[in-house]
Amino acid sequence: MTPELREEFVRLWYDVSRAGGSVGFLPSVTEEEVRAASETQFGRVTAGEHRMLGAYGTDGRLAGTAFLRLHTDFKMRHWAMVVLVMLDPALQGGGHGIRLMEETIAMARAAGLEALRLEVRGGMGLESFYARTGFKEVGRVPGGLRLGADDYRDDVMMWRPLD
Ligand SMILES: CC(C)(COP(=O)(O)OP(=O)(O)OC[C@H]1O[C@@H](n2cnc3c(N)ncnc32)[C@H](O)[C@@H]1OP(=O)(O)O)[C@@H](O)C(=O)NCCC(=O)NCCS
Repeated sequence: MTPELREEFVRLWYDVSRAGGSVGFLPSVTEEEVRAASETQFGRVTAGEHRMLGAYGTDGRLAGTAFLRLHTDFKMRHWAMVVLVMLDPALQGGGHGIRLMEETIAMARAAGLEALRLEVRGGMGLESFYARTGFKEVGRVPGGLRLGADDYRDDVMMWRPLD
């Protein structure tokens, strides 16, 4: 977690959010808000609560991430939640996202996990992206997410066994 990596992560998360990515913020987010959330996220990684996968561009800079949120509850230690899957907007749509998820799945297997879960904002078409890497929809809360006064989205739960 070098200062350079921290700075590149703030930049990545900010750029993806401003471009409309569904990674916790709305496009109106400020850099300060992303910076504060990034510090919290780095704290989770250094505490061993999350594992980070970094994807790098040919220029050696951070171009994408995925995190595994591990559990302390003994009943759920066999699976992890995948969060903050994102790619630099300039690299989206070129097949790198599938590669990122394949590496995330490999990292989870290497960690001895048996399954992965993730939550997706409905209405973005993301279910079909994750379905390409073996995730299946296992639950949906209609209108479970409110992005704005009149903007309700389904909260979609997806699951992928790693056998
Ligand atoms: C989601 C994300 C990681 C996908 O990476 P990507 O490089 O753009 O995706 P790929 O080029 O590997 O796409 C692979 C397939 O998934 C599809 N796909 C990707 N994103 C999609 C989307 N938002 N809606 C529908 N389909 C999508 C592609 O069409 C492609 O299918 P095809 O080969 O049949 O054309 C990337 O677009 C991103 O960072 N988005 C912003 C952040 C975000 O919303 N993350 C999701 C958090 S739940």
